[in-house]
Parts: sequence; C-alpha cells; structure tokens
Amino acid sequence: MKSYTTAAAALMAAGVVRATSGTFDVLTMNVAGLPSVLQSNDESGDKTTNSELIGTYFAKYGYDIINVQEDFNYHSYIYSTDNHAYRTATSGGAAIGSGLNTLANFDWVDFTRVGWDDCSNDSDYDCLTPKGFTFMRMMVADGVHIDIYNLHADAGTTNADEAARTSNIQQVADYIDTYSTGNAVIVMGDTNSRYTRTADNIAVFTSQNGLTDAFVQLERAGVVPATLTICDNPSLINTCETVDKIFYRGSRVFSLNATLFNYESSKFVQTNGSTLSDHNPITVKFEWINEGLFSQSNYSGGPHGDWFSDLASLPEKPVVSKLVFRGNKRLDSVGVVLSTGTSLTHGGTGGTEASLTLATGEYWTSAKFCTGQYSNRTRNFYVLATTSKGRTVTAGTSTSDCTTFTAPTGWQIVGYMGQDGDEIDQVSLIYAPQY
Ligand SMILES: *[C@@H]1O[C@H](CO)[C@@H](O)[C@H](O)[C@H]1NC(C)=O
Ligand SMILES: *[C@@H]1O[C@H](CO)[C@@H](O)[C@H](O)[C@H]1NC(C)=O
Ligand SMILES: *[C@@H]1O[C@H](CO)[C@@H](O)[C@H](O)[C@H]1NC(C)=O
Ligand SMILES: *[C@@H]1O[C@H](CO)[C@@H](O)[C@H](O)[C@H]1NC(C)=O
Ligand SMILES: *[C@@H]1O[C@H](CO)[C@@H](O)[C@H](O)[C@H]1NC(C)=O
Repeated sequence: MKSYTTAAAALMAAGVVRATSGTFDVLTMNVAGLPSVLQSNDESGDKTTNSELIGTYFAKYGYDIINVQEDFNYHSYIYSTDNHAYRTATSGGAAIGSGLNTLANFDWVDFTRVGWDDCSNDSDYDCLTPKGFTFMRMMVADGVHIDIYNLHADAGTTNADEAARTSNIQQVADYIDTYSTGNAVIVMGDTNSRYTRTADNIAVFTSQNGLTDAFVQLERAGVVPATLTICDNPSLINTCETVDKIFYRGSRVFSLNATLFNYESSKFVQTNGSTLSDHNPITVKFEWINEGLFSQSNYSGGPHGDWFSDLASLPEKPVVSKLVFRGNKRLDSVGVVLSTGTSLTHGGTGGTEASLTLATGEYWTSAKFCTGQYSNRTRNFYVLATTSKGRTVTAGTSTSDCTTFTAPTGWQIVGYMGQDGDEIDQVSLIYAPQY
C-alpha cells in the first residue's frame, strides 16, 4: 500500500518521531482477595502469602496492562511486591470497595469507577460490596490511546443472578457507546458469563459494540462455544471457556489485533505447585498498526460533559478550509469546516466567534490549549491555533496551565474528540497527512 509507506514515513519524519506499529500484552486475573474468613475461594495456603506471590509474578512477567478483580483485603500485599509504574489506588476492602484495580506500564487519563445499577443477593455476596466497572483512557504510545474497561459482573445462576448480570453487561455496553464512540477499546475482567447460558448476554459486546473476543478469535476459530466446557485450574489447554474474558476493537487511528491467547495459571502457582486463585488468569498479546490515515494528540482539560469524536465523520483524506472557535472568559466551542462544506463543531454557542480561512496549501499544524478551574472542574479556557504559514487565531482567555500540540511533520490538524457541554471540557486533536 503506497499511502501507508508514504504516510508512515511522514509519521517518522524528523521533529516528531511516532512509531507506526507496536505490541503489548495484557492480563486479567480474579485475585481471590475476599477475606479468608468469608471465602477461601477453595484455594490452599495463606491469602497474604499468596497475594505477595501474585504481585511478585506481575512484576516478573511484566504484563503491560493488568486488570484485577476481587482485589479486596489483600490489596497491599499484591502492590508490595509488584513494580508497575502506574497503578490505581484501592477503593477499599470487601463491603466498601469494588475489588477492581489496574496495574500498567502506561499512563492514563479520566479514570472512573462506576457502580452497577443492579445486583442480586442470591449468590456470592454480590450486593455486599459495591461491585461495578472501571474506565480509563490509556496512552499505549504517542497517538495510541485505548479505552480500557475492567469489570466484575454479578455471580450465580438463579433468575435474579441472571437478571442482575444481564443488566451489568448491558450497562457496560451502553457506557462504551456513550464514552468510547470512535475509540479503540479493551474490555477485560470477570464477566461471570458463558456463551452457552442462554440468559447470559455476553455476546452483546460483539453485536452492540463491535468488539472481538480474543478467546473466540484465536482458540475457537471465530465460533462461539455451543456446548459447555469447564476449564481445569491450572488449565493446560486454551480451548475451554472461562467466565474471565478479553474483548477488543481498534479504531480509524490504528488497527488492533490479538495475536496470542493463553491461560497463565501454570505461572501463578505457590512454591509447591498449588494455584493462587480459583480463576485461570488470561493473557492476550496485541499488535497495533497505524496505517497512516489518522493520529491523535494527548488530551487537554477534564473528563466532564458528553463524549464527542469526529473520527467517524472525517473523509479518508480530509482538507480543512476554515477554523472556527467561540470564546470569552473560557473556550465555548471548537470547530473546523472541511473543503466539502461539512462543519464539525463542538461545545456551545456562547462567547464571540473567531475564525481563520486557510489559503490553498495552508494547513493547521499546531494548537496551544490552556485550562483552568470552573465550578471545581477543569475546562479549556483558551486556544491559540497556528498554521503552516505562521498565521494564528485565538479564542477565550489564556491561563498559566497550557499545552501545545503540534502535528507530526507533514501532517495537519483535521478535527477533534473530547468531552463538551456548553463549553469545551476536554479536547484531543485528530491529525491526518497534509493532502
Ligand atoms: C501447598 O502449600 C499450601 C500451603 O502450605 C498447602 O495448604 C497445600 O496443601 C500445598 N499443596 C500441595 C499440593 O501440597
Ligand atoms: C441485598 O441485601 C442487603 C442486606 O440485607 C439489602 O440491604 C439489599 O437491599 C439487598 N439487595 C437486593 C437487590 O436484594
Ligand atoms: C491477527 O493475528 C492473528 C494471529 O497472529 C493472525 O492470524 C491474523 O491474520 C491477524 N489479523 C490481522 C487483521 O492482522
Ligand atoms: C502524552 O502524554 C504522555 C503521558 O503523560 C506522555 O508520556 C507523552 O509524552 C505525551 N505526548 C506528547 C506528544 O506530548
Ligand atoms: C469547590 O470545592 C470546595 C472544596 O471542596 C467547596 O468548598 C466549594 O463550595 C466548591 N465550589 C463549587 C462552586 O462547587
């Protein structure tokens, strides 16, 4: 593909070096951290020692992104022996916290904990503790941002359990539609679901959100299990189904593909070979490829308001003819007009308009955004846009907290993603080659 080679070369051009492909691996593990007096998880050994060992293995194998569930009362023992650079703070032990945490080699923004709308008391203490899911936008590489979800759905198989779990899975699927439109996504956690249970709606991640189950893709040749298979623990085969699952999709910025799936339980054992959890931990190795059509900047601002993204609306080779902003005390709106006449605008109608019509062969190449606090929330207050001919346009009021985003050499700014209300809470710029 010629366009790939040319654009990839541009991405790597002097000035801003961006990788055009890369790999990373993930792990999801239910760490069986309920207080041992409540729940032994049928595991032998002492949970404190076992949790220290789990952290030791996290560090030893160095998985890039780890989602844990049931990380309740032995959390500090896992973190004491793990060494990942980025880790969520615990939300508390059983009865207080959700047991969900993420440990990673990459930084993120917009970490959010969301409680379930429904739970059932029928099995396994589901209403005893506020379980739910978490969300974060992780920066795997420059321009490679992935929305990472961790979840622990309701357990059990009574009608009330099934109803709660169906609601839980649907809640995550709807959240993805609201907050991850246009974005690459990885959902990994303890779904407590099986394809073979008709009341379970786990396939909704595929039918509603376009996610691929790495297990179904790599171990089942794309065919969901039609008969129940239970995995041993440790499992020595990968073709059996567990309730712990890893789903994913790429975006128009980069393709994402799972290249390896494995039950890692044989690595997570005590010194005498006994397992550390009643769940098989799962690893998946991913490859991402930027095909040279789009890239994106980091985010400026806070995670408030509604999610928006121009990625789906942009033509394959966008040309920007005009920049349009509104601002006064803060930044009210951001927009571009494409050569096709399409307007892509976000935010509200307050403030005064400031626009700049681009000449032929002139590109929008850099933007400085400044943020500040309004009603205790971070918003964008100011933008200064600069073109390849050095012309500028500004809107809003500058602050002391500013970031300048510059398109990779040979690229331009063509649109936006972020969160808005009647102002611009958060923004990330979409880049494309200069056409
Ligand atoms: C391994 O050690 C644990 C903790 O001492 C013990 O409870 C368990 O029975 C042992 N497993 C085997 C297979 O000996
Ligand atoms: C579950 O049990 C708790 C404690 O008895 C109660 O407060 C809660 O309302 C119950 N929840 C449901 C969904 O039945
Ligand atoms: C994804 O990875 C699998 C396993 O390596 C490979 O067979 C498949 O061709 C890849 N698909 C794409 C679209 O790259
Ligand atoms: C984006 O943010 C990440 C994480 O804070 C940082 O490492 C990276 O340098 C930033 N990229 C750019 C282009 O500023
Ligand atoms: C902002 O937060 C402070 C401290 O929590 C609080 O006292 C104040 O009322 C808040 N202001 C607004 C506008 O919400």
